[in-house]
Amino acid sequence: MAYNEPWSKRHKKVTAGTPFSLSNSFTEPLDSVELIEYSLARGDREIVDAYQKHSLGYTPNGGSLDLRQEIANLYGDIISAENIVIFAGGQVALQTAAIALLDDSSHSIVFTPGYQSVQVAPVHAGSMVSKIRLSPESRWQINPADVEAVIRENTKYIVINEPYNPAGTLMSHETQRQLVEIARKNDIHIMSDEAYRLLEHAPKDRLPAMAEFYEKGISACAMSKPWGGCGITIGWLALQDPDLKQKIIDTQYFGTACPSRASEIQAIMALRASDMILERNLKIIRHNLGLLDDFMDKYSDFFDWVRPNAGAVAYVRFKGPLSSEELGAQLADAGISIKPAYVFSQDSNDYSDYFRVGFGEKIMPKALKALEGFVEAHKQEWQET
Ligand SMILES: Cc1ncc(COP(=O)(O)O)c(C=O)c1O
Repeated sequence: MAYNEPWSKRHKKVTAGTPFSLSNSFTEPLDSVELIEYSLARGDREIVDAYQKHSLGYTPNGGSLDLRQEIANLYGDIISAENIVIFAGGQVALQTAAIALLDDSSHSIVFTPGYQSVQVAPVHAGSMVSKIRLSPESRWQINPADVEAVIRENTKYIVINEPYNPAGTLMSHETQRQLVEIARKNDIHIMSDEAYRLLEHAPKDRLPAMAEFYEKGISACAMSKPWGGCGITIGWLALQDPDLKQKIIDTQYFGTACPSRASEIQAIMALRASDMILERNLKIIRHNLGLLDDFMDKYSDFFDWVRPNAGAVAYVRFKGPLSSEELGAQLADAGISIKPAYVFSQDSNDYSDYFRVGFGEKIMPKALKALEGFVEAHKQEWQET
């Protein structure tokens, strides 16, 4: 694979040092003191002691049992600690699974626009890749017939990301069922990036985890989004197939063979405080989304969207006279960062009028106010163009 600059790096150069961020995709970051407070409030002195005094030796391949057990509790009975593999972050999990499963004789299916790691992991693993373009006209929904149309004899892998980054939308239960049916019929694994699962704005929209729903399904998740723990740097895969699990662990030998114990313990602390942390983050999300709703109503001449129903990001269309790249540069000059369309697609002309905003952090209302000030200052000029 030839070197390619990460799509989001280009954006970071433009927005370096901007005080008002609408760029981030995570929820309010936790800190280490909060984690300890949550643990002590629960009477869980043992985990705090384990954090303060633990061996700096290697952790077991595939992750320690106590963390794998804690993660398995997020799923139904079909997923136990034996079905979990731990990684140093979500992106490493996506990469490692692709390398374990694919080679240059294989074909994979991915969707665009989307989070870059989700789209390129099969490419980096040497697989041939078909990209299916999602569209706002279809509310960013995957059309199972489009998937069926590109399946080849050597198709081994379909990579989906639901809830969907950048739009914060979710596929319907029926679409998930149809997709699994197609994959089963053609003996294809489905890698389901579920980094935003558990952040559905209405619990009824939550989809079954792919690892539970499909015997060849793999669910990828990480501490980064629902728990506000990007810096814990722990991700995982849940899957039923023991042979594939072993292959993935074997592949880990050539990368980050084992996660840090301090990270594992912090992940256990956060997972044990899930109820409180998720409630706190969903409260912030709902509040900020309400403000975004007001903004979208007030400025509907200039912006529209498919309203998100999960997670902490939205993909917004700018109807004015600038591309999202140009708008992003002007906003950066005004101290505001957003993520233009080129961060989510290899083709920089793809949806060039769209940009992503994040609304998972407490400081988001300040950034939205700054955006509103920018729109007020420019709306006449946009109307005249
Ligand atoms: C859809 C999606 N998957 C995976 C990741 C990566 O997770 P991590 O930060 O744990 O590597 C992200 C982070 O932005 C993401 O948005």
